[in-house]
Amino acid sequence: MIYVTRREVFSAAHRLYNDALTAEENNSLYDKCANPYGHGHNFVLEIVVCGEVDKKSGYVIDLKILKKIVHDSIIKKVDHHHLNHEVDFLQGIIPTAENICIAVWNELQNKIPTGKLFSVKLYETENNSVEYKGE
Ligand code: NI
Repeated sequence: MIYVTRREVFSAAHRLYNDALTAEENNSLYDKCANPYGHGHNFVLEIVVCGEVDKKSGYVIDLKILKKIVHDSIIKKVDHHHLNHEVDFLQGIIPTAENICIAVWNELQNKIPTGKLFSVKLYETENNSVEYKGE
């Protein structure tokens, strides 16, 4: 088994706010992340696909193909957009790093043509990241 990683960077805004809670509860839970107009991050996304090396191509997955899938399914929709309002696959989700990571996994899982999706890792800052492996 070998692991292939595609790294992508995107810039996006989000606001952490749970409509089921009061404004006071949201401020207490999310502090400045609940600011009404949101705030931005330069997110880093790492998509890992694992599998056996194909005898003919020498690849698990052609990284040009993986790049196109990640761009078409994720990056085009999130880069320079507001994650609370503009992204179809994040509708109704509080866009924490955890929830974005799971949503990205769900978007990509059935689109990988060779090998299989192993993990999605999302860095919200240099020091904070989350990783999802599908369970
Ligand atoms: Ni944030």
